[in-house]
Amino acid sequence: MQKKILDILLNSNHFISGQEISDMLGVSRQAVWKAVNSLREEGYEIESVTSKGYRLVSSPAHLNEKRLKSLLKTKIIGKNLIVLDSVGSTNDYLKRLGSEGCENGTVAAAREQTKGKGRLGRQWQTKKDDGIAFSVLLKPNISPSEVSSVTPLAGLAVCKALREFTGLDCFIKWPNDVIVGNKKLVGILTEMSAEFDAVEYVIPGIGINVSHTSFPDEIAYKATSILLETGRHIDQNELLACVLLHLENEFLKTNLELTPSVKEEYTKMCATIGREVTFKRGTRRISGTAVGISDKGELEVMLSDGTICVVNSGEVTVQGIY
Ligand code: BTN
Repeated sequence: MQKKILDILLNSNHFISGQEISDMLGVSRQAVWKAVNSLREEGYEIESVTSKGYRLVSSPAHLNEKRLKSLLKTKIIGKNLIVLDSVGSTNDYLKRLGSEGCENGTVAAAREQTKGKGRLGRQWQTKKDDGIAFSVLLKPNISPSEVSSVTPLAGLAVCKALREFTGLDCFIKWPNDVIVGNKKLVGILTEMSAEFDAVEYVIPGIGINVSHTSFPDEIAYKATSILLETGRHIDQNELLACVLLHLENEFLKTNLELTPSVKEEYTKMCATIGREVTFKRGTRRISGTAVGISDKGELEVMLSDGTICVVNSGEVTVQGIY
């Protein structure tokens, strides 16, 4: 009932009387009034004027499919959009749709994840409306070995979008975080399905910390949110619309290739490059200076003897960042 009334209010840009709504839905005016009050409690600002009726003034800042759709300026990414109140993991949800043949560019976003996944088997918590958790289904015509460009492109897009939308001085921490200062604001987990030499689908899944006022003790020293950094409550729909537009630009610009100009841009926004890093090779720990990324998005590290070592997975420790 609440949802039906919300749909009516979202679809009318003028006042609509309680009587009209009750006629449309076949319920009493008292029931309409009650539902309007519940919507107000959820954060919807609804003006009511005697003899005119109700008008939706503003929506709460949390994800809302209708509102997000109305803000989207993309051609492919998010044309098919699903916003869920709660889901285990948006990556797992899209994987199911991907194997059922869902269309390229489909986006699944959720207000809450109960089994959110991070890299290296870690968890990624998304409590209701604290953060934005979303995944994008891509069906590119590339080989499995080329999929490694997706995470750097997603990182670049999200970093640009966050700079533009929040004004924060965000950087990329190779391979998959967006940071502000020394703390993580965004994590990216890219998964794929491939058979022989053909990619069936690739799913970059992105978690953005938006409204957290604190983090669990174990990660408090290395995690932050837009609210903590700016002191501002943002509209998650506007932010996600901005991020999806940047993702589309980066993904479509070069058919997922890391061209020299993309690498140049990435390098400028990457906090890892130019720093001392340590990584594992077998049982050895090796240190060197990060100097760039390769065409496949690997980190290029210069060792003390001048040789370049290419690092493509696992955990890299960056001096000065968590
Ligand atoms: C990391 O930093 O370890 C990666 C975190 C990725 C989290 C996102 S939230 C949306 C998508 N769904 C998931 O289960 N994980 C990714």
